[in-house]
Amino acid sequence: MPEAGVRVGLVGLGTIGTGVVRLLEAHSDLIEARLGFPLRLTHIADVDLHTDRGVALDRYRLSTDFKELVDAAGLDLIVELIGGTGVAAQVVASALQAGKSVVTANKALLAHKGAELFALARDNGAEIAFEASVAGTIPVLRALREGLAADRIHALQGIVNGTCNFILSEMEERGEPYAACLKRAQELGYAEADPTFDVNGTDSAHKLTILLGLAFGVHAGPGDFPCRGIAELKPADLEVAEQLGYRIKLLASARQTPQGVEARVEPVMLPRTSLLAGIGGALNAVEVRGAFSGSTLYCGAGAGSRPTASAVVADLMELARARRLGIAGRVPPLGAVELRAGGLRPVAEEEGEYCVRVQGGGDLAAPLVAALAQRGAHVTSLLQDAERAHAVATTRRTRRADLEQALAGLGRRISAPQLIRIQGDL
Ligand code: HSE
Repeated sequence: MPEAGVRVGLVGLGTIGTGVVRLLEAHSDLIEARLGFPLRLTHIADVDLHTDRGVALDRYRLSTDFKELVDAAGLDLIVELIGGTGVAAQVVASALQAGKSVVTANKALLAHKGAELFALARDNGAEIAFEASVAGTIPVLRALREGLAADRIHALQGIVNGTCNFILSEMEERGEPYAACLKRAQELGYAEADPTFDVNGTDSAHKLTILLGLAFGVHAGPGDFPCRGIAELKPADLEVAEQLGYRIKLLASARQTPQGVEARVEPVMLPRTSLLAGIGGALNAVEVRGAFSGSTLYCGAGAGSRPTASAVVADLMELARARRLGIAGRVPPLGAVELRAGGLRPVAEEEGEYCVRVQGGGDLAAPLVAALAQRGAHVTSLLQDAERAHAVATTRRTRRADLEQALAGLGRRISAPQLIRIQGDL
């Protein structure tokens, strides 16, 4: 009799789901050789089973109802790849309640409902694996959970949204307009179903909440730290960054301070010579600094069907092994048995070195410098470009609120003021 193997049901046949089907087909021998038993995808559920996705579905039991799949006899593991926090939450909860472990790439779900789902998994002797939820194919969660388990993490920073990184790279390298770059990111399968979540920073904030748990043992929600996106950036901001020796990246960052962990998501200017400034296209990278380990960098494809599928199937293999060995919870999902509530530093005030750009007619530099000086901001460089009708100043460490007040004081003389923090060393 052939070995029955571990049987898998997949809910959600979108970009990533289709990649998972392809990978399981393409590498079935390799996966069996590595596991010592087969990993069999047997059931697929999706509301749309008619769209041609370029994969043959006739060998699978198909259903448009996820409940039918979760209840199916003989399924060992469930993959949730619907996304969002609605039906996906029901899929994951009902699988866990049935004692079936789950693999998901759903960062929004974990950011909003992770605590209750992890508790549900524990109570039912099941597990949730979610490597693909942060930085696509890059095994950075595994690195934090296991490779760096003995170390105290001081700080991390990462480019964790492929869509935004792709848009910024294309705008900078090809000078293409924002909307056209976003459209291409959607066509390439990088963007969320609602790309607003990518460009306004929400997707990066979801991922940062997961990283905060793993790196600092802190329980946080995406609304607990400042979050800004890239939608307001103009080509002129990218040009100015280049003139000043920087590159703009959407960065998720966190740092341990004596008052708690300081976390944020925002576009920043990074020195062009820094490692993260060189990460282009849909690539992601996360840099981590630990007390003993020093600085480590994890880099690779952060989005897209094939890279994300690779992380999903690796998680399936880990859960399949655990099932065979009859063990669950070998390592807690977020690395620590309990997360600390309230471990974040309250965001009373943000401060840093900033680049300030204002647009308008006439001499802008003098009033800009005067307004900044009035608020105690020390200007370190100044640019005025009559052709672009803008003036740009960089400042020493200053409170963001003071800069905002200085810009408000300029009133109707200026339009579209832009404040971008200049990121220092990790
Ligand atoms: N929309 C996400 C991104 C997909 O662009 O990074 C991967 O999480």
